[in-house]
Amino acid sequence: MSKQAITLNTLKKLKRSGEKITCLTVYDSSFASVLETAGVDIFLVGDSLGMVIQGYDSTLPVSLKDMIYHSANVRRGSSNAFIMADMPFMSYASVEQTLKNAGKILKQGGAQMVKLEGGAAFVERVSTLADHGIPVCAHLGLMPQMVHKLGGYRVQGRDDRSAQKIVDDAQAMQDAGADMLLLECVPAELGEKVTTLLDIPVIGIGAGPGCDAQVLVLQDILGISKGHHPKFYRNFLESSSGIEAAVSHYVQAVKSGEYPAAEHCY
Ligand code: KIV
Repeated sequence: MSKQAITLNTLKKLKRSGEKITCLTVYDSSFASVLETAGVDIFLVGDSLGMVIQGYDSTLPVSLKDMIYHSANVRRGSSNAFIMADMPFMSYASVEQTLKNAGKILKQGGAQMVKLEGGAAFVERVSTLADHGIPVCAHLGLMPQMVHKLGGYRVQGRDDRSAQKIVDDAQAMQDAGADMLLLECVPAELGEKVTTLLDIPVIGIGAGPGCDAQVLVLQDILGISKGHHPKFYRNFLESSSGIEAAVSHYVQAVKSGEYPAAEHCY
């Protein structure tokens, strides 16, 4: 029997029921079908592809064309998963540009949701997308497209003032019509606080076990990413018999609460 397609309603129901939601990055059709077989709920066509596929040292060079190309490849490899794609750096510099480019990601790339990095300053962009029926995930905490402004890839929200700013931004994004939030590299306590506060699902990466969902970069869980590995990194392939088993292990570890463990948290 074919599995039912995962929609925003499915994900919101999972949040309400307390069942953990699984998300992985994916950039092509072969891996999309592996993830689908393993039962991953959300496929993130992340602009991390600039680093793990294209070999750049940041996500900044990724173009809208790249995002559409990879989203369409992922779409063709999947039938049930919910596909979210990143809006690349400078593709949402104005409200008009945001609407036009998000529309292309859905129409040409086949994604069901776009993700953009930013908080309260982006309220008008998010509400405009919501008014046009384009689901949005707001990415807060460590925002990799702001690496130069942040002075590197650092944990965010460690002090009271910056933690409160993340809480306020999260609330502003939900109020503007965002359907999901992604929190990257924040203390576990803050991840849990934001998740409890919001009605929309909160995906964490390095944001602790209290989030509704977890996401990791596919190349990280397969142990083939180069360079420095953050605290939340875990290679699931080394304890599995193959790629599909490693992805299934990740799904089972998130669903059971085994991942993230204390050693993966800030
Ligand atoms: O681009 C990406 O893969 C991401 C994740 C790291 C969350 O945004």
